[in-house]
Amino acid sequence: MDKFESNPLCQELGCEYPIFGFSHSEAVVAAVSNAGGVGIWGATRSTPEEIRDGLRRIRKQVGERPFGVDLVLPKGMPATDDRAAMEAQIPDEHRAFINGLREKYDVPDDGQTGMRSRFVRSEDMAELQLREILNSDVDVFAMGVGSPEAAITRAKQRGKRVVALVGTPVHAQRAIDAGAELIVAQGYDAGAHTGDIGTFSLVPQVVDAAGTVPVIAAGGVATGRHIAASLALGAVGVWMGTAWLFSEEEAVHPVIFEKLQAAGSGDTMRSRADSGKTLRQIRTSWTAEWEADGAPTPLRMPLQDIVVGDFLGAVDRAEVQELMHTPAGQSVAYFNERTTVADIMRDLVAQTREALG
Ligand SMILES: Cc1cc2nc3c(=O)[nH]c(=O)nc-3n(C[C@H](O)[C@H](O)[C@H](O)COP(=O)(O)O)c2cc1C
Repeated sequence: MDKFESNPLCQELGCEYPIFGFSHSEAVVAAVSNAGGVGIWGATRSTPEEIRDGLRRIRKQVGERPFGVDLVLPKGMPATDDRAAMEAQIPDEHRAFINGLREKYDVPDDGQTGMRSRFVRSEDMAELQLREILNSDVDVFAMGVGSPEAAITRAKQRGKRVVALVGTPVHAQRAIDAGAELIVAQGYDAGAHTGDIGTFSLVPQVVDAAGTVPVIAAGGVATGRHIAASLALGAVGVWMGTAWLFSEEEAVHPVIFEKLQAAGSGDTMRSRADSGKTLRQIRTSWTAEWEADGAPTPLRMPLQDIVVGDFLGAVDRAEVQELMHTPAGQSVAYFNERTTVADIMRDLVAQTREALG
């Protein structure tokens, strides 16, 4: 019980429970922190101005309670946000494939960008995003992919608690060497970008490799039993993403909510079709099309973002039901009803107490 209720990490951060809740929704982030956890806002697709304003709005909602922000900072991104340079690299095969899908599913070409193509992921953009984070009063800075030493050093200098998400013990070691103060060991079960090693195999290995650096478990955490198990594996807390898709605050589109409701653990899969890196999501016609014979192999990040970005934006705007999808992890099986973040947190806390006896 001590590991949960009198958690040293929480004493340091000022949270009540070592439950980190990742979401792209400001409302979810604020609600997780207000319910005693630590909300983490996924801002990698937000412009620097949006990051500045979003962080201010969340702070207003949570007061002194801790919250964090997450960027994806992979190596090898282009220097600048140059859409034309990206376009020039897209093979005809990929263009033809997307055009074929457009015709087959009657997706309008509305001339707008989508979430993945509103800007090209680049070194320049990452720097501007990071600056807004460093200039803000956010408590925690997390990196979902990559752990560049310069970013870690600067964030620590500004008093941020720096977190790196990793999927292998080797990456954990690299992140620690680069100065990360908290490691999220995220297993194969997790929603969105995720690696090859299952949570149960990964967490103890990362705990052993991390020495005195605290480790948080992610991937498949849905109940208090999972939280108790994570603590038993040596983690000091948990990091959850899929659960909040069922919250009123997240307010996912009703079509997507129905797909989530219907999904069991076997109804998610990893695909490189969205971003170029393996991303766990619910199975839909979108994943089936990219798996079908004759489909092209997805390109690397960030080219694949540009291959699919405008198209997926149009899919959502025109509500093309078969192709609408979301990242989600195998824990999707544990959730069914639309409920509030506070209710999810209350259940998790009660179940963890029970599981820990
Ligand atoms: C809809 C959704 C979007 C996500 N987007 C990101 C992201 O932009 N950056 C990131 O670091 N992690 C992202 N994640 C992963 C979460 O941070 C978290 O590690 C993961 O969801 C934990 O596993 P779980 O899905 O089994 O709870 C996302 C997860 C979901 C479900």
